Amino acid sequence: MAVTRTLVLASHNAHKLEELRRILGPLIPGIELIGYDGPEPVENGLSFADNALLKARAAAAHTGLPAIADDSGVSVDVLGGMPGIFSARWGGPARSDRANVDLLLWQLTDVNDDHRAAGFVCAAALVLPDVDDNEVCRVGVWPGKIAREPRGEHGFGYDPIFIPEGETRSAAELSSEEKDQLSHRTRAFGALAPEIRDRVA
Ligand code: IMP
Repeated sequence: MAVTRTLVLASHNAHKLEELRRILGPLIPGIELIGYDGPEPVENGLSFADNALLKARAAAAHTGLPAIADDSGVSVDVLGGMPGIFSARWGGPARSDRANVDLLLWQLTDVNDDHRAAGFVCAAALVLPDVDDNEVCRVGVWPGKIAREPRGEHGFGYDPIFIPEGETRSAAELSSEEKDQLSHRTRAFGALAPEIRDRVA
């Protein structure tokens, strides 16, 4: 009989649930990924991995199920890795994509094209309830550079100003299928998938 592996995704975001079902479905036989509407922790970790683990721990404790979570953002080399874990609120408390993008572009105004390297980073965490050695986290990076102006209508966040390595288009000019092939989330959850297969019966 085929196994069913039920996991909860520690996020209230329905789009993220769809995206991770697309990414993990082909990698993990029998996976059933369900949404989560329980309490979310304060994201006060000091790294993407800290924050992903905080979220997965909270969902595992609340549901009693194995939980996965992610935390992601954009890291710009010349800014020492910032916005990093502050990506969602870089442009101020409104947390708007537009404000985030505008501030980052303004900060890089005088930075020439050779020094605009950046990466989208994602930490993917798995936490199992009630067992020892119950946490694992994998990080995926999608390298690229920051454009001079926004382009493209797809995606969200910093996609319009992120040019993936080997591309002339921005991430917002890629189709969602193309982005799924390459993205930091695909890389992080691709690395986490063998752990899920081994640890979640
Ligand atoms: P979260 O960890 O998925 O909530 O993402 C944090 C922030 O990082 C988002 O608000 C976006 O600004 C940025 N970010 C994360 N992933 C992406 C992406 O795939 N494209 C564009 N921006 C992203």
